[in-house]
Amino acid sequence: MSQKNTFQVVARKLITASDKKKYDPFNRVEYQETLNGDRWQFPEDFLSLRNLPIYGDLDDEQKWRLSLLEAINFFSVNIHGEQALVAALEPRLYRDKRVGEDPVSSKYIQRFIHEENSHTYMLAEFCLRYHGSVFPDRAFAVEQPKFSPEVEDILFYGRTYILESYLGFINQKAVKDSDMDTSAHQVHKYHLIDEARHKAWDKAMIEENLSRAKKKNLSSELRAAKDLMATYQEYIYQSACNPAVYRALGLENGMRLRTEVIASNERRDLMRPWSEGLAKYYADIGF
Ligand SMILES: [Fe+2]
Ligand SMILES: [Fe+2]
Repeated sequence: MSQKNTFQVVARKLITASDKKKYDPFNRVEYQETLNGDRWQFPEDFLSLRNLPIYGDLDDEQKWRLSLLEAINFFSVNIHGEQALVAALEPRLYRDKRVGEDPVSSKYIQRFIHEENSHTYMLAEFCLRYHGSVFPDRAFAVEQPKFSPEVEDILFYGRTYILESYLGFINQKAVKDSDMDTSAHQVHKYHLIDEARHKAWDKAMIEENLSRAKKKNLSSELRAAKDLMATYQEYIYQSACNPAVYRALGLENGMRLRTEVIASNERRDLMRPWSEGLAKYYADIGF
């Protein structure tokens, strides 16, 4: 096997790893008949209102409702992110024009798409069973300026990495939280397992494209892409604060609550391991 293209070595490893973890995509999670009112549907520490004075005014039943609504919001953001991701991955299959479109990489991307599709199914199933619907996409227009292919792909895989590392950060907190209810816990656990592979692929693509972009001296494009990634990171950060959640809970002035959560220092501190992890990664690869 040629060791020439590191990303193809990564693709082969990920294919093997993915095939070892095969599962029935439509029967993976055991959905509870009814949710347990004594267990959280989303980790309490990560409830968006947790650090605002209003949280102390909520009774136990409202706090539990908030945890369910936050789970629906988080899973909905996840679903919309996966939809956009699958739409962007699909045309890359076997196209063989850019990095990661060769036959070996394409075989891995088929598994990537397959896993995202199965995630969307398990997440949507949770939202439909326990809330009756998926929250609508909050229609963030993702800017797509014309860059060289290498930088375009850094931006694409960079945004994917930002999203997947955010999801993984929360998944990990939920998996470690012994107060989580069974079905929600399973959804987080299964997602976390698969996302480790996806992030490895995102990194392989970012790094290969970065080394090619540097050889072509695309530094001003790279700076512009980095700014766009920072904007996207902030959008993902703010996606956890949805006024529709607060309205559904019967709270007045959902937009003001959203602004307060976003401005909260405690919330920034809570999310810091995620944002610092991203910053460290960019520094390590010289981006
Ligand atoms: Fe996923
Ligand atoms: Fe993923």
